[in-house]
Amino acid sequence: MTTETTLQDWQQHLSSQSPKDILRFAHQQFDNIVISFSGAEDVVLIDLAKKVSDRVKVFTLDTGRLHAETYQFIDRVRRHYDLDLEILTPDQAKLEALVREKGLFSFYEDGHKECCGIRKVDSLKRRLASADAWITGQRRDQSPSTRSDVRVVEADPAFGSADRPLVKFNPLANWTSQQVWEYIRMFDVPFNPLHGRGFISIGCEPCTRPVLPNQHEREGRWWWEAETLKECGLHSGDQ
Ligand code: ADX
Ligand code: SF4
Repeated sequence: MTTETTLQDWQQHLSSQSPKDILRFAHQQFDNIVISFSGAEDVVLIDLAKKVSDRVKVFTLDTGRLHAETYQFIDRVRRHYDLDLEILTPDQAKLEALVREKGLFSFYEDGHKECCGIRKVDSLKRRLASADAWITGQRRDQSPSTRSDVRVVEADPAFGSADRPLVKFNPLANWTSQQVWEYIRMFDVPFNPLHGRGFISIGCEPCTRPVLPNQHEREGRWWWEAETLKECGLHSGDQ
């Protein structure tokens, strides 16, 4: 079992390491570890992991509301890296009940939590129930309000428990957007074509829009809501 002291030691050891070294370490420590891929620039996690491990596992949460370009990109990544990609879909009964009661765009009226809860968080909970560790593409520079404290490795109290602890690795935590894009260009990594059309942070189609020059990337997500509420619950243990 990974104790809090072990995690602190790991954090100290890994905080100055490169994303590639962090991914190597994560795969050495855990057999049952999986990358959570959103279909955006976190593709660099897959590219790097493939360089250090031959048992890379990846899942994506298919909310049913992604852009057509994102679906095409996810499939391109699946083929490019020869991944056995798990595409997780929401609970049908819960989703049907939500849209029957509130329609397809309830999030513009009463906030995104309920829809994200059913379309993303429930599926994630289901997947992580059988994992010992997971890997995300979170970075500190993605959101000054909610991600400035993201650590390279941490316990995940939101999806793990005392009986079943879950470790979360954020290998890109210290990288800036610029470093991610330098890597993508340098190693010819495939990327979502929406990035070429002003989208920086990419989520579901109705809740994502391009940003203007000098606007922060988070302003393109759930723009009708306050900065501090712009998290969908996948990373609630971090706040
Ligand atoms: S979100 O919480 O606002 O939606 P964001 O888009 O910044 O998250 O992505 C941060 C990380 O969360 C991604 O790198 C990925 O690890 C995980 N993530 C976000 N959306 C998904 C998704 N649809 N499927 C799988 N992982 C996701
Ligand atoms: Fe629903 Fe928008 Fe959340 Fe996607 S991002 S799950 S459409 S509220």
